[in-house]
Amino acid sequence: MMVENLKLVDMVIELVDARTPESSLNPDFEQLYQNKIRVIVLNKKDYADNKKTQLWLEHFTSQGINIYTVNALDSKDVRYLKNKLFELADKKRNEIKKRKGINKTIRAMVVGIPNVGKSTLINSIAGRAKAKTGDKPGVTRSKQWVKIGPYFELMDTPGMLWPKLDNKTIGLHLSYIGSIREEILDPVKLAVNLLEEVKTLYPDALKTRFKLEDTNLPGYDLLELIATNRGMLMAGNKIDTERCATTILREFRTGLIGDITLELPQESS
Ligand code: G4P
Repeated sequence: MMVENLKLVDMVIELVDARTPESSLNPDFEQLYQNKIRVIVLNKKDYADNKKTQLWLEHFTSQGINIYTVNALDSKDVRYLKNKLFELADKKRNEIKKRKGINKTIRAMVVGIPNVGKSTLINSIAGRAKAKTGDKPGVTRSKQWVKIGPYFELMDTPGMLWPKLDNKTIGLHLSYIGSIREEILDPVKLAVNLLEEVKTLYPDALKTRFKLEDTNLPGYDLLELIATNRGMLMAGNKIDTERCATTILREFRTGLIGDITLELPQESS
């Protein structure tokens, strides 16, 4: 379906989570984006570490990739991104006009793995225009185009990419950000791993959020300590590690532990 949909568009906007740009980008599709305007958007910037986001912006820019960072829930950010997308679309349309003498409508679609904010971004970009959508002749009924400018349209359904699971770290990072279905995962193992990573990268954030004096403990001990601090006990005063783990994961996912980025650009990425 993605391949079919991609044939219809001139611009692909791939959304990734700014906290885990490497893991949430899916290179399996890169070949399909050839000959199209490619844009990568680091979304949920409000949850990410600003300094590391800048490093990611530099990293992609140095590769000649159009890269922007936004909080899809912030109208100012969305306006900024929309302007950048218009600039890219105008450039492409002018090139086509020079060659063919026609004003081509540039069509774009948003793609990405689950939970990176695709629907949110489409709704924010399309705004009220989305309600006025109508089917276009020659386009399958299910595909709707939202007119966001005189010669610029956005597909109103996102392209869903599957998460790549190349190694254990990627799998864990995708679980932390909620891109892999929770039911198949053990929350205690996940939370212990998350605590291990965060205590190394952002010990102060952990101390502040969970009122810990010392984070220099194994992940499982930290989990038990947090559960005890928060009074998460079961019958017989047994520590409810599962409830605590689920809480920690939810708090990470919604930015409550702090502005955290788990990945840095590598030379090879
Ligand atoms: P998807 O289509 O890629 O699957 O993602 P979707 O738009 O449904 O967004 C997933 C969740 O992330 C939503 O939370 C949405 O509000 C939130 N979100 C999207 N972009 C941003 C952003 O830039 N910043 C912040 N802080 N949140 C963002 P939700 O409605 O609470 O859904 P859920 O997490 O309870 O499933």
